[in-house]
Amino acid sequence: MKADLLYEGKAKKVYQAAKQLGKLVLSYKDDATAFNGEKRASFAGKGHLNNEISSRIFEYLRERGIDSHFIEQLNETEQLVNKTEIIPLEVVVRNVAAGSITRRLGIEEKTNLYPPIVELYYKKDELGDPLINDEHAILLCNITPVELQEIKTKALQINNHLSELFTGLGVILADFKLEFGKIKDDIVLSDEISPDTCRLWDKETMNKLDKDVFRQGTGNIIEVYEEILHRLEAIV
Ligand code: C5P
Repeated sequence: MKADLLYEGKAKKVYQAAKQLGKLVLSYKDDATAFNGEKRASFAGKGHLNNEISSRIFEYLRERGIDSHFIEQLNETEQLVNKTEIIPLEVVVRNVAAGSITRRLGIEEKTNLYPPIVELYYKKDELGDPLINDEHAILLCNITPVELQEIKTKALQINNHLSELFTGLGVILADFKLEFGKIKDDIVLSDEISPDTCRLWDKETMNKLDKDVFRQGTGNIIEVYEEILHRLEAIV
């Protein structure tokens, strides 16, 4: 199914799909990194869990009219996706304050943020993925003002769908990160949506069910990712 390795990232490898120009195979790794790669570890089964979770979420979104690069799950750790022209932007949507916004703006953790806050980060490891404004994004990311508006609108639509999904699972979606790419002139959701890229809190206990347990060293990453998958399996 896969041919040449094109790129290896922190959490995934990207291969050209064999004999299918325009398609890629994403292979989810067991590696976990935090703080821009400063903290690293490997957890057997993490790649499988993120592939299962992300595949289900992309399918859930597709059924609700949100197209992504996702075509199908191939096996335990791999997905077939459409190749996109990468937009070097990380789009973060925040419903509840946590992480960098609490440090940057002095907002207390768990403060409700309504309307949700959309933030843009320039995806560049050497610079530590800095927070940028709209004009920076237009300048740096090869997108037009209209495309940027479309990206923000899509991010908020995705937030509505995911918030509804996770509420049904007894989980608070505090925040998450999205990436987008271009296929010809279309803007499509890409990368992954998983506990690596979301903050997910159990509604009753407020326990963290996401990568913060690794970042903060407060729990077993495999157990909490399994918990999210089990809850998702019950409905999608
Ligand atoms: O660190 P920060 O609070 O800005 O993260 C906001 C959200 O974006 C979190 O859910 C985090 O997991 C996600 N994120 C990510 N990849 C990054 C930075 C943040 O998935 N490079």
